[in-house]
Amino acid sequence: MIVKQLKVGTMQNFVYLLADEASREAIAIDSGWETEPIARAAKGESMRVKYVVATHQHFDHTSTLNRLADELGAKSVVHENSPVEHDIAVKDGDFLRIGQGKVQVIHTPGHTEDSICLYDGENLFTGDTLFIGNCGRTDLPGGSMEKMFRSLHGVILRLPPQTVVYPGHDYGDVPYRKLGEEARLNPVLAAKGYDEFLKVP
Ligand SMILES: [Fe+2]
Repeated sequence: MIVKQLKVGTMQNFVYLLADEASREAIAIDSGWETEPIARAAKGESMRVKYVVATHQHFDHTSTLNRLADELGAKSVVHENSPVEHDIAVKDGDFLRIGQGKVQVIHTPGHTEDSICLYDGENLFTGDTLFIGNCGRTDLPGGSMEKMFRSLHGVILRLPPQTVVYPGHDYGDVPYRKLGEEARLNPVLAAKGYDEFLKVP
């Protein structure tokens, strides 16, 4: 798969294009700011975007989701718990197919009830569930520390250590990192148990 990471807007948001190399079919991940850089990048790489997927409902990830889908002739996709207008609702374990590749939807509540990660077997797009060096906030409506802990430790940390983590914001010292390394360096992942997780600043 081809991954293109783009930084957009005023809140250090990362959006992504994930494409099957042979067919050039692609998924755009998140769209909350200007659509032009994403559309331009897709065109420049000769990608045909089939789906525009929201990692969760917050405006900086979704406010131009449907506009981008319309512009690209794609379908907008959200988790079934999302209040955001959409063409397709997905749930945990569903797959989105691009060319010969398939991308798994992993439900990871904690930041919001509709938070999902997308996993193609090598790359993990974590939205605001997991950042480089921290995790997303749990004190906004729909947030839960307990669910965040379960999503991080019971779901994400079970993926192979060579998985590359691509977060929804550029908050870290690097823009992406391998999960195995992140598990050592990121205190929310390195915490041994829920009590220690709660003490991470
Ligand atoms: Fe968010």
